[in-house]
Amino acid sequence: MKQIINVSVKTRRASFTDCRTDLLVVGRFSDAAGPDEVIDALDQRLGGNIGRLAKLGDFTGKARTQVLLYGESKIGAQRVLLVGLGERKKATLATLRKAAAAAANRAVDLKIQQIALALHSPFVGLHDPAALGRVMAEGVYLGSYRYDEFVTQNGNGRLGALAAEIVDPDPSRLKSLAQGVRTGAVIGRAHNYARTLANRPANVINPSALAQEARRVLRGLRTVRCVVYDEKQLAAKGMGGILTVGSGSRNMPRLIVLKYTPARKPARGAPTIALVGKAITFDSGGISLKPAQDMDQMKMDKTGGVAVLATIKAIAELGLPLSVWGLIPAAENMPSGSSYRPGDIITTYSGKTVEILNTDAEGRLILCDALALAVERRCDVIVDIATLTGACMVALGSYKAGLMSNDDDLVRALERAAEESGESVWHLPTGEEYAEEMKSKIADLKNAGSRWGGACTAAAFLQQFVGDTKWAHLDIAGMDFQQKPGECSALGATGFGVRLLTTYLRNLVEKK
Ligand code: BES
Ligand code: MN
Ligand code: ZN
Repeated sequence: MKQIINVSVKTRRASFTDCRTDLLVVGRFSDAAGPDEVIDALDQRLGGNIGRLAKLGDFTGKARTQVLLYGESKIGAQRVLLVGLGERKKATLATLRKAAAAAANRAVDLKIQQIALALHSPFVGLHDPAALGRVMAEGVYLGSYRYDEFVTQNGNGRLGALAAEIVDPDPSRLKSLAQGVRTGAVIGRAHNYARTLANRPANVINPSALAQEARRVLRGLRTVRCVVYDEKQLAAKGMGGILTVGSGSRNMPRLIVLKYTPARKPARGAPTIALVGKAITFDSGGISLKPAQDMDQMKMDKTGGVAVLATIKAIAELGLPLSVWGLIPAAENMPSGSSYRPGDIITTYSGKTVEILNTDAEGRLILCDALALAVERRCDVIVDIATLTGACMVALGSYKAGLMSNDDDLVRALERAAEESGESVWHLPTGEEYAEEMKSKIADLKNAGSRWGGACTAAAFLQQFVGDTKWAHLDIAGMDFQQKPGECSALGATGFGVRLLTTYLRNLVEKK
C-alpha cells in the first residue's frame, strides 16, 4: 500500500535551545506555577519574546491553543511551536498524545518536514519515559495523517515525509524514551493503516480485495498465518450467516482467519484470545434498503474487521508473547435478485436458525459464524468489534464505544485499556431480558428486536453464539469516522479500536 505520509519518529540527545530543527515543539501547562526551565531558556535566547506574548495574554497554556514563533537565528530551531497542555492536575498521557498530534497536524499544514519534540519535558516525573515516548510517537502518527491517495489535482498538498525527533538533553532518559517510541511507532503505523483501509471506498475494497490486502500486509510477518475461506469453502463449512449476507452481491463473501503465534513461548498463563471484527465492505441495507442520505458512509462498515487486521499486524511487530486469532468475516450487503429477504430462515455455522426480519441487521449474521468458530477453536476470551447498531450511536454519540460482556473482569480490563489508549468505552447492559426479545416463534432466533435498546438486543443476539466463553462486544457505530477534521486527526475514518485492542493485549502480558 502506498504510504500516505512517510512518518518516522526517532530520539536524539540535544539541548532544547541549540537543537537544529525546522520546528521545535514545546508544551506548557496553563497553571504552571513559577519558572519553566525549557521555556525560560528559550525566552532568554529569544530576547524575551515568549515572556512578552504571555504578558499580552496571547498564550496562556490553555488546552487546544498554540503559538508559532520564529527562531531568528538566536536558537537552533527555525521555528518554535508553543502548545497548550491545559491544567497540570488534569494532565494524563492522553494530554501528551493529543499535544503531539496537534503539533504534527500543524507541521503538515505548514508543510514542514522535520520537527523536534520537547513536549514531554513538563511530564517528566509524572510518568515513566517509555510511556512518554510511546504516546508522543502515537500522536505524531495520528496527527500527521491525511487520506489523499485518490486526490490527483493541485499537488493536493502532499507532504511526502515527516521526520520527527524526540529530543532530550538528559542521556539517562534516552534509552527508555527510545524503547517507548518504537512501541508507539508500531501502534501509530497500525492505526493509520486501519484508517486508510477503512477510508478506501467499496469499489476498491470488496471482501476478496480485503482478504488479498490482509495477505499482502502480513506476508513479511512469519508469526502470522492467514487462511481465507472463499464462498465455496464457506458453503462446505456451513457458514450460513456469512454466505446469506453476501449473497446479494457479485462480490462474494470471505472469512479471513488470522492466527498469530509468538516466536518465543507465550507468557505463563497467558490466555488465547480471539478478536472478531465485522467487515461489511458496503452496507446498503440490502432489500431493507437504507435511505440515500449518508449512505456513502457505509463504506466504513468494515471498520471492526480492519481494526482486527491492523491489531494483529501491530502485535506481531511487537512480538507480544500470547496467541491471538483474528477472525474477519467480510461481505457486501446489497439488494439484488439473489439477495436474502425479510422472512427468510437461515441456518448459521453454530446450527442455530435465524428468522430474518430486516436485512439491514446483517452485522450480527456474519459475526455469529465467526464467534462460533472462535468457540470451536477453544479460545479463552473472545472480543468482537463492530459498527453494529445505529442505536448505540443514539445512546453514546461519537465519543464512546458501547461495551457489553458476560464477564466483569473482562469489562474492567477493557475499560482500563480504553483509558490508557485514549479510545473510550462505556459499559452497557445485555443478557437475558434482552435475549428474550431476540427469540423467534418459527426459528431459534430472529435478527431484529423492537425499537428500544437496539444496541443491547444486538449484543444479546451475539451472546447466543459464545456459550460459556468469556466474551466482550464493542459496538463502534458512531466511532468509525469523523465528519470534520479535528485538532489532532483528519476527517474520515478514525481507525478506532486498534489502540484499544493493542493496549488490552499488551496489558495481558506486560508487567506493570
Ligand atoms: N452498519 C449498521 C449500523 C450503523 C449505523 C453503523 C450508523 C454506523 C452508523 C448496521 O448494519 C445496521 O444497519 N443496523 C441496523 C439494525 C436494525 C435494522 C435492527 C440499525 O442500527 O438501524
Ligand atoms: Mn446494516
Ligand atoms: Zn452494517
